[in-house]
Amino acid sequence: MAQKIVAGNWKMNLQFEEGEALVNEILRGSRASDVAVMVFPTSLYVQSLSEQANGEITVGVQNFNANEKGAFTGEMSISQVESVGASIGLIGHSERRAIFHETDADLKLKVDTAVEKGFKFIFCCGEPLELREAGKEFNFVKTQLEASLFHLSADQLENGIIAYEPVWAIGTGKTASSQQAEEMHAEIRSWITERYSAQIADSVSILYGGSCNNKNAKELFACPNVDGGLIGGAALKAESFLEIINAF
Ligand code: 13P
Repeated sequence: MAQKIVAGNWKMNLQFEEGEALVNEILRGSRASDVAVMVFPTSLYVQSLSEQANGEITVGVQNFNANEKGAFTGEMSISQVESVGASIGLIGHSERRAIFHETDADLKLKVDTAVEKGFKFIFCCGEPLELREAGKEFNFVKTQLEASLFHLSADQLENGIIAYEPVWAIGTGKTASSQQAEEMHAEIRSWITERYSAQIADSVSILYGGSCNNKNAKELFACPNVDGGLIGGAALKAESFLEIINAF
């Protein structure tokens, strides 16, 4: 069975004290359950927040560089972020792809470095609106996965987590319906079954992201192939984030 996960991607939001207060409230408010809770603050806060979280919440980074070290001004390597407490990183968020022009090849390199270092990752995929309107969403997402993820061996893929985040649903308040989410998640699982095995497909968590909030999480998480959520806006307030965690 895939691990159930609720992860908050804070993006470039929250001052340090706000992040600290939020982690505090999450720690106080989440009931003991089988849901893994993760937060992805700005990397600056990782050291302090991971100490504060004390293993009860996983603290990750929103981005990292595939190189080990060297002249890459402004970048951070996996060993650097690990040395201050990050144990997981996002790869291929649509904002990194669109705004920072990260290509499939760049993301493949990050996947390979993460696997090599034993660093966990959430690989993000999802189609823009025009491709959904053209009925090409399945092809598009499959191509993204084939280009940067499905070259891994079965053992290597088992370590990864996939997040399906349709670009048209991110930050728009327009969430995918539970039917749309379930359809895509079921497809992703069937591609993993074809390429690897049913056992691997069942073990990989597939999260939904895109305007997932405390109002719609219950319905989305009730879908058999939705193993949790990667939450943006609704992860910035303890009340809504806790409701989402408790929606399972
Ligand atoms: P929103 O939940 O704000 O739509 O953002 C989703 C997202 O991009 C999470 O990575």
